[in-house]
Amino acid sequence: MNLTLEKVNQDNIRACVKLEVAELQKDFIAKNVNTIAWAYVDPNFTPYAILDGETVIGLLAIEDVPENEDYDRYWIPRFMIGEQYQGKGYGKQAMHAAIDLLSAKPDCQRIRLSVWPENPGAIEFYQKVGFTLTDELLEDELVMDYYIQQP
Ligand SMILES: CC(C)(COP(=O)(O)OP(=O)(O)OC[C@H]1O[C@@H](n2cnc3c(N)ncnc32)[C@H](O)[C@@H]1OP(=O)(O)O)[C@@H](O)C(=O)NCCC(=O)NCCS
Repeated sequence: MNLTLEKVNQDNIRACVKLEVAELQKDFIAKNVNTIAWAYVDPNFTPYAILDGETVIGLLAIEDVPENEDYDRYWIPRFMIGEQYQGKGYGKQAMHAAIDLLSAKPDCQRIRLSVWPENPGAIEFYQKVGFTLTDELLEDELVMDYYIQQP
């Protein structure tokens, strides 16, 4: 496995748009084309292709909201692994790559995301990566936090 994150660009956009989650997971995550479109109007929102070598196997988005309080600034608002690539450890590695990317920012102490309560598999996955549930809700979704270790 040679996993990298690459901003969505002209070379990888077709593969990103083709990638889908399983039928039963479709209510839990926006279609990739919608995620990519969001970045067209929101400069704080950046979609990344997740690649193994040359193959796009997933998509995530990072959101940096400078006007928010420090603890609330960095988010991972989208995260998906294509159905055919799930259950192989890609999700965990990709999430660690996203954490590495964000934790390189000197002011990043916490990374946040939100997840539907009806998606316990994703909650368990995020907990295995090191996220913890908070008591906050964001538009009916449960907010989870990952604390960056300070050197
Ligand atoms: C959730 C998701 C990203 C996991 O990706 P993945 O590549 O299949 O996960 P991995 O293979 O890296 O699994 C990592 C760990 O999480 C666990 N895990 C993954 N999916 C799980 C599930 N549905 N239920 C319970 N545990 C799960 C694995 O068992 C593994 O545990 P281990 O480290 O003890 O072996 C993927 O299923 C997905 O894209 N789901 C649809 C989109 C979605 O719901 N995204 C979240 C929106 S908030």
